[in-house]
Amino acid sequence: MTLPSVFRTRLTHLTAFFRSTGQRAMSSTTVQKTMNGDRSNLIPLSSRLREGRALALDVWSIYNAANLPADCINLGQGYMNFPPPKWVTDAADEALKTTPANHYSHPKGRIRLRQAIKNFYEASFNRSLDIETEILVTSGANEGQYSVFTAFLEQGDEVIMFEPFFDQYLPSVTFNGGKPVYVPLHPHTEGDNPTSNDWKIDFDELRRAITPRAKMIILNTPHNPVGKVFRKDELEQLAAIAEEFNLLVMADEVYDCLVYDGQEHIRIANLPGMWDRTVTVFSAGKAFAATGWRIGWLVGPPSIIQPTLAATTRIVFCTNSPLQEAAAAGLEEAQERGFFAVQNQEYQDRRDVLLRAFDQIGLKYTQPEGSYFILLVHRFQKMLRLPTLTHWCRMYPEFNFQKIILSRRVSTDEVVTSTNEIGVSSIPVSEVGGVSI
Ligand SMILES: Cc1ncc(COP(=O)(O)O)c(C=O)c1O
Repeated sequence: MTLPSVFRTRLTHLTAFFRSTGQRAMSSTTVQKTMNGDRSNLIPLSSRLREGRALALDVWSIYNAANLPADCINLGQGYMNFPPPKWVTDAADEALKTTPANHYSHPKGRIRLRQAIKNFYEASFNRSLDIETEILVTSGANEGQYSVFTAFLEQGDEVIMFEPFFDQYLPSVTFNGGKPVYVPLHPHTEGDNPTSNDWKIDFDELRRAITPRAKMIILNTPHNPVGKVFRKDELEQLAAIAEEFNLLVMADEVYDCLVYDGQEHIRIANLPGMWDRTVTVFSAGKAFAATGWRIGWLVGPPSIIQPTLAATTRIVFCTNSPLQEAAAAGLEEAQERGFFAVQNQEYQDRRDVLLRAFDQIGLKYTQPEGSYFILLVHRFQKMLRLPTLTHWCRMYPEFNFQKIILSRRVSTDEVVTSTNEIGVSSIPVSEVGGVSI
């Protein structure tokens, strides 16, 4: 299997499955069930749950269980096998001991963290940031993104996302009435192991995908899962398209601190005219190896941050206070400690160890220039499928692997197999695609 063929051959079994189950069918089934004495599904679900894979188990839910074999190495979900820096966890301990840091924080985020964000990012945005109107602390990047969708999407508004993409975009968009529009990143290479920079947008294809309902475009750089760090000329073309079609740009830059091989991370918000239409998304989880803390932040113009504040206030009211203090300490001290430069080098070293290992066993991959993912080509299911299924179903009867695997696309199968047979779990690429993966 070559990388391009991954794109061409895989189908959307899951989307089709959910689309065919309409609200009306559900109601009549419910009536029938009640008459038969089955009261397990009395109340019809909201129709928004029927779109965007919302009812399907997400990658995390599947692969936490899939990781159950005790000696399995989980390379799938941002489970670092090292803790956040001690000076950051110390700040969390300290915060827990004070009374105010255990109270609700302001829905905008705690002042100390907003101030730290201002001080840390102003230089990289080439502007001063107003902590009242241009910075918003959220419960992880994910919730921040969800809140932007809530604040800006009308029913049927189209959101352009480049495939493959971070899996949460899809249900977050459809929950908010949006319609995902997929534009593939193409691996333009004949060689075995492309770099992430070999994955390109076809800008004509992008233009053709834009309709009068297009409202937003999600740009993820450094990219999950390709590892692509978008170049200036690519960002300029995207910026021109955003201007031409009046699109809100969601710049998902949660991996901006993980850029390798001397590449430069460029913020699209800094390109001429782009500040006013761009919201940039950050994650303390990625920055400080603390994904379970659920702290993130958004930076953008008041016209985007203020409506998003209204949405986030309804969704979570506010983000947990003590860990905001710790994230603030992280940003306050990072520069002086040279923290991000060291961490970046450590991740690059780990990447290189893995790539050399894949070279040795002959697995093909895309060499990432950023983020902490490696896109790998493998296929195991043909030789191992049946014994694996039987084994897993016997070991974890409460978890219906058979149903999950049969309802997903082929790479799920491969990954479940490799987790069990080889003891390394990863994420199937079909979970990070829309239609063409
Ligand atoms: C591209 C991308 N955006 C956003 C997120 C969500 O980050 P957080 O854990 O802060 O919600 C992730 C997490 O994996 C991601 O990969």
